[in-house]
Amino acid sequence: MQTRLKTEERLVAKIERLKKERRAMIIAHNYQGGEIQDVADFIGDSLELSQKAAKTDAEVIVFCGVHFMAETAAILCPNQTVLMPDLSAGCGMAEMISEEAVRQMKKAHPNAVVVCYVNSSAKVKAESDICCTSSNATRVVESIPKDREILFIPDQYLGAHVMRQTGRALILYNGYCPTHVRIMTAELAKAMEQHPDAVVLAHPECTGPVAQLANHVLSTSGIALEARKEPRSAMIVATETGILHRLQKENPQKEFIPACRYCDCAHMKVNNLEKLLWSLEEMQYPVRVDVDVASRAKAAIDAMLALG
Ligand code: 13P
Ligand code: SF4
Repeated sequence: MQTRLKTEERLVAKIERLKKERRAMIIAHNYQGGEIQDVADFIGDSLELSQKAAKTDAEVIVFCGVHFMAETAAILCPNQTVLMPDLSAGCGMAEMISEEAVRQMKKAHPNAVVVCYVNSSAKVKAESDICCTSSNATRVVESIPKDREILFIPDQYLGAHVMRQTGRALILYNGYCPTHVRIMTAELAKAMEQHPDAVVLAHPECTGPVAQLANHVLSTSGIALEARKEPRSAMIVATETGILHRLQKENPQKEFIPACRYCDCAHMKVNNLEKLLWSLEEMQYPVRVDVDVASRAKAAIDAMLALG
């Protein structure tokens, strides 16, 4: 244990030194492992990470998250180097939809506006009109004139949540997050029984019955904000377990109970300090997007960012 701590300290010291030399910024998603969150310059949800990437003047962005997030940063920062410590960090949901599937949907609904959850590849974004994240999906849908048909891709559960929030009928694709569907209502109900005073915070990628049991359905940073504001001291958290590190660190006096103890996203957890250091040492792995795809995908991302 002592030796591991010493090794970690040495790795962190090297990362900090190289970060300055390379004029690099480390940004990390809320689901990253604790050791990555602790060394990052910025931690956030998908929207905050893309807003941060769009504004930074760092020469190098080391992106600790999954591929679609780094790809979004690369699209927004074409003159900076975006690195991922491990390119195998994908997203089960993003892999469920291809650009061809979107073209087919558009053919069947030629007048529809395509709203694309940011958890998708650049090629899929390139076929879409406007992106959204879990924190602004409702606002994005509300910005579309009421008489327009909307194709909402690829997350059926986020789409269903937006339908409940807005009362709008959306045409949904059948994608889902393989991590969030493992959160079961039975387990959540049991946790609620054991902690009757606890507030339930859920991510909108959870299935409908789970989301409907929650007091608040929020993005990962929305959950972090609510946890700080909430006067009650116990919270049941229905999302990927990586967020517990941030929640506990920011609220040491509060208790966070995972609705599902084994719901971790394998993709989010491929990073570690060794890979992060190596990424800075060797400037690996650069994330590049084809110029034509990037410019079409950027239009959909910019349309979302323009909403603020
Ligand atoms: P957030 O945008 O809420 O951070 O969600 C990203 C994600 O991948 C959830 O599974
Ligand atoms: Fe994708 Fe789900 Fe992992 Fe989020 S938690 S990155 S949606 S597989």
